Amino acid sequence: MTIRSVIAGVGAYLPANAVSNADLAKRVDTSDEWITERTGIKKRHIVADGEKTSDLAIAAARAALGSAGLSGDKIDLIVVATTTPDETFPATAARVQAALARPGIPSFDVQAVCSGFVYGLAVVDNFIKAGQAKSAIVIGAEAFTRLLDWSDRNTCVLFGDGAGAVVLTAGEGRGDSADRGILSTHLHSDGRQHDMLYVDGGPGSTQTTGHVRMKGKEVFRHAVTNLTEAVHEALAANSVQASAIDWIVPHQANKRILDTTAEKLGIDPSKVIVTVDQHANTSAASIPLALNQGVADGRIRPGQLVLMEAMGGGFTWGSALVRM
Ligand code: UT7
Repeated sequence: MTIRSVIAGVGAYLPANAVSNADLAKRVDTSDEWITERTGIKKRHIVADGEKTSDLAIAAARAALGSAGLSGDKIDLIVVATTTPDETFPATAARVQAALARPGIPSFDVQAVCSGFVYGLAVVDNFIKAGQAKSAIVIGAEAFTRLLDWSDRNTCVLFGDGAGAVVLTAGEGRGDSADRGILSTHLHSDGRQHDMLYVDGGPGSTQTTGHVRMKGKEVFRHAVTNLTEAVHEALAANSVQASAIDWIVPHQANKRILDTTAEKLGIDPSKVIVTVDQHANTSAASIPLALNQGVADGRIRPGQLVLMEAMGGGFTWGSALVRM
């Protein structure tokens, strides 16, 4: 018997304020044509004044609990993947815990930028497999636009805000790829690539929040290479062929990255869940937002094989292969 972390519910939340490329072009030297052609992005949601990452996280977690048919008092672990915590400390997860779950359960944040949700899944999967949690929530939540330099058109048009969450519950399997639940996670990082994608501030350096800085072309190249390798690694570890994957739910940074990676893998682009057009890059929130979209519109169904993959600042990257 193998313990598996089964996705029992999925939920998401987007701030009400939707901003189109045309809206952005009124305040930034850009155009709908450039953004659409280079990225596939058509709009993004942006937090309102006073709206915080924890607000988004709590709303997404409530939706995931509702979809799982569970109440918060059944949860024994909360992990929030975020780059934009409400405060430097305490963790945003503690806010979620206070709002949703019984006092005393562990809660903490994971910081792996755009790979954060995959990192969070891996951490919680290991807690569940070790018998230290039976029901957990993993949330990817970002008020990422708070990190943008609105005078830098190379970055400010690319990102948005939002949150997505899954409820994971301990289940039993036979130990093969027919099991329901998380079949594998693989995580990587390469800190030598810091200067490719980073925020130029922080409590320990400038005592300011800082802004996102990115060498877009180089990040693009690394993303395609690392994500392709991550997918091969997940398939090999599970003795699964690419053709067995029902859905790829990738981190949503750029439609061209999604298309190029699918092409390199020989995977039909129609099997890739795409939300970057609607949400832009929401960092740690992008995978659970896309997963929620695929489940909500009926494309992703119980029993199907879903491969999540992400790459972000650090660099960090990784994958999670899950049977729904
Ligand atoms: O989530 C973490 C991972 N992040 C990523 O994966 C992002 C990866 N990188 C990318 O998605 C792409 O590299 C970008 C979308 C960031 C940029 O696309 P690109 O095709 O690599 O464009 P570029 O950087 O080569 O810029 C081309 C031109 C430049 O003008 P010149 O120098 O050729 O005259 C830029 O100044 O486009 C210009 N440009 C813009 N023009 C209008 C850059 N940003 C804009 C803009 N609007 N917003």
